[in-house]
Amino acid sequence: MPVRFVLDCDTGSDDAIAIFAATAHPDLELVAVTTVNGNVALEHVTDNTLRVLDHVGASVPVHAGAARPFMRPDFPVPRAVLNGDSDFQKDSLDFPAAVSAAETQSAVSFLIEAYMDEAFADVTLVATGPLTNIALALATEPRLAARIPRLVVMGGAHANGNVTAAAEFNFWVDPEAAEAVLGAGLREVVIVPLDATHSAPLTAADCDEYEKIGTPAAQGAAKLIRHRLAHDQAASGQAAVSTPVHDPMCVAYLARPDLFTEAVEAFVSVETTGSRTLGELLVDTRPWCPQPPNAAVALRASGEVYREFLRTAFLAGQR
Ligand code: BDR
Ligand code: CA
Repeated sequence: MPVRFVLDCDTGSDDAIAIFAATAHPDLELVAVTTVNGNVALEHVTDNTLRVLDHVGASVPVHAGAARPFMRPDFPVPRAVLNGDSDFQKDSLDFPAAVSAAETQSAVSFLIEAYMDEAFADVTLVATGPLTNIALALATEPRLAARIPRLVVMGGAHANGNVTAAAEFNFWVDPEAAEAVLGAGLREVVIVPLDATHSAPLTAADCDEYEKIGTPAAQGAAKLIRHRLAHDQAASGQAAVSTPVHDPMCVAYLARPDLFTEAVEAFVSVETTGSRTLGELLVDTRPWCPQPPNAAVALRASGEVYREFLRTAFLAGQR
């Protein structure tokens, strides 16, 4: 039986690779996609998601979600200021214009209706963008915390962040949503922070392999990973040998629970007020931490298992 899941994402190049792998891998079934403001503005996230699904001919319902953070009018620092003149996040991914369309039901309404239904009792929720939709759904229907069987989140960093020294992008964009979701008492939470994603980066040799495989999903992934390598090279001024490809790791974990080679169960929370640490993931590993663990936090991943997962997906192509 394939692992069924809903993907809440902000497509975004690595979210796109997660979708390519998810729609192709024989052990996974992507039930629906919900979109959220993040890497680009919501309208572009939704359009990019439809482009990516159309590129592989996958028919998966897409529900558009929150256009701004849970409580704030905008990111802590507006997107234009954050991105400066970098062209890393282009509004539109380089795939043909979408012919499919989003559903009329909003992401938040969909998540509530779906997870209050017994039919979703086994459906994992995977979040690879800011946690705004999930925070809104939990605020609207608190019983969801007991209904969602498992939440797998790409977000946070136990060591350094990427937007600031303390904060990773997804949690920094909407710290109040991240704090609300992690504190909601969900049954099972798995966090995939930068520590894990940076431990198993992909390379140009991986892109060569995906291009040879040649399925639409494999070619699409290679194009996006090459763009990430080129960006890293331009940003650092040094040849980029490898680049972290964050979001597909959450999807890989569903099919390959042996992906993470080091993890810790701990009480986790997110900083919502610090002037230098806004959006920081706090992983309380103190033996005397007064709160019981509320998440498993992956700290290292196996590059071999990650590559096997992606290879299997791309060889299978689109079902
Ligand atoms: C995360 O932030 C986004 O830019 C990526 O899509 C990924 O989800 C990495 O910090
Ligand atoms: Ca993302």
